[in-house]
Amino acid sequence: MYRALISAWLAGLASALLPQPALADDSARVNELIQTRCFVCHGLNGESSTPAFPRLSGQHAAYTVRQLADFKSGRRRSDSMKPMVEDLSDKDFELLGAFFQQQPALAHAGGDPALAAQGKKLFLEGKGSGAACATCHGTSGHGAEYVPRLAGQHAQYLVKQMQSFKDRERPAPAVLAKAVAGLNERDIQALAAYLSGLK
Ligand code: HEC
Ligand code: HEC
Repeated sequence: MYRALISAWLAGLASALLPQPALADDSARVNELIQTRCFVCHGLNGESSTPAFPRLSGQHAAYTVRQLADFKSGRRRSDSMKPMVEDLSDKDFELLGAFFQQQPALAHAGGDPALAAQGKKLFLEGKGSGAACATCHGTSGHGAEYVPRLAGQHAQYLVKQMQSFKDRERPAPAVLAKAVAGLNERDIQALAAYLSGLK
């Protein structure tokens, strides 16, 4: 009697310790998506091949999931990204978000030091009546959850996004929209030079 109970318990324990089939399927699915689609532009670990494509390594899962859903719905417009996500599910977005969050964010060379110093000031203090970027993105640019990590992102990509918020092409929360509205071309270059060099 006890022997039967104990062996049943041991069997239960053994199956709890084995990899769950669902998890194995999840990692096969995420590998398939990355190896057949995303790697071309974003690399196998989210370290993109050219500065035109954003780095995804170390980015927050919640933020990535929201962007993928926004590309799919067309809320955030991108001719490169829409066809990549059109046929993917919310579950796929979650798997991809979790994967990229786990990839280590590497250190990168920053831009011109004098320009970066101006960018640092703008990032920490904001411009005019606009909120300081650091209020939301954190003093080290690491962000959290729905606020993206900016540290180590490609300068060229950052410039394009700031411009796109400013031109109201990419939707932005009101405080962000106001914070970037007052930036001129040089401010944007300075912020990008500073942020791309942060670890
Ligand atoms: C043909 C190149 C290409 C491929 C393939 C591609 N992307 Fe992208 N991706 C881009 C470009 C370009 C952008 C920037 C769009 C913009 O300017 O707003 C981008 C942006 C993103 C962003 C937003 C990053 C941010 O910081 O806001 C995420 C997330 C993303 N891609 C994930 C993926 C995933 C996941 C796949 C595979 C399913 C994928 N991409 C495949 C080109 C590509
Ligand atoms: C009120 C909080 C807040 C403030 C202040 C703020 N941001 Fe953001 N920022 C956000 C959020 C939230 C997003 C993501 C928006 C989305 O979901 O598309 C974002 C997105 C961005 C992105 C896009 C990153 C990517 O990977 O595509 C850039 C670049 C950026 N912010 C730069 C700045 C700069 C520069 C400033 C200061 C001038 C600033 N932000 C101020 C909250 C803020």
